Amino acid sequence: MAWEREKVEQGKREAAEAAVELVRPGMVVGLGHGSTARYALLKIAQLWHAGKLPDIKAIPCSRAVEQEARALGLPLATLEEFPVVDLTIDGADEIDPKLNVIKGGGGALLREKIVAQATRREVIVADWTKLSPALGTRSPVPVEVLPFGWKSQTNFLEGLGAKVVLRTEAKGTPYITDQGNYILDCWFGPIPDPWALARKLEARAGIIEHGLFLGLVHEAFVAGPEGLRHLTP
Ligand code: A5P
Repeated sequence: MAWEREKVEQGKREAAEAAVELVRPGMVVGLGHGSTARYALLKIAQLWHAGKLPDIKAIPCSRAVEQEARALGLPLATLEEFPVVDLTIDGADEIDPKLNVIKGGGGALLREKIVAQATRREVIVADWTKLSPALGTRSPVPVEVLPFGWKSQTNFLEGLGAKVVLRTEAKGTPYITDQGNYILDCWFGPIPDPWALARKLEARAGIIEHGLFLGLVHEAFVAGPEGLRHLTP
């Protein structure tokens, strides 16, 4: 197990650092949330301090990433200032062969999707354990809901076939997103038609966003014991 954990960390770092090679001086760069995207953030900060990435502007996908990027001294910007992002490097919880992904394990799915939809080149970085034949096989679909009426969302999601778990903190209180909402983790099992499911979720009032990122990813770097792979849909 310790061997596998070490290989996973190595894969995350390798994939993230490969993606950072795409960053060029002057770019507006989206910074994803999560343990894999964090390796990219650290590498970008290192290159920036070494003077190798002058004039970049970084757009963080969460408050936590914003804090860390600020502490690292990176020049931050907002989508208001730069509504189009050149390149975003982000992680994923599950990746299917067409590079549709599930995101939101870290709770930042809404900002991550806003940034992804504003991005010219969305790059996913991951270790090999995230690859999956069908979305839903290895992770739940996180659904961000308004606290008002959240239990009726649970009923609705169960009606779509999910086993639904309200995400909580260690002390048992609901996990609260950067927007002040709850997350319902929805275990569907392998999802035959993610696009159809996404449409149903998007039609429901009170559901703010879901973690199915469909047709949004341009490429992925995935690393593991068998090396680094650069994937396109
Ligand atoms: C954050 O909300 C998520 O979308 C992450 O990108 C995803 O959970 C992957 O995180 P790790 O890189 O920590 O596995």
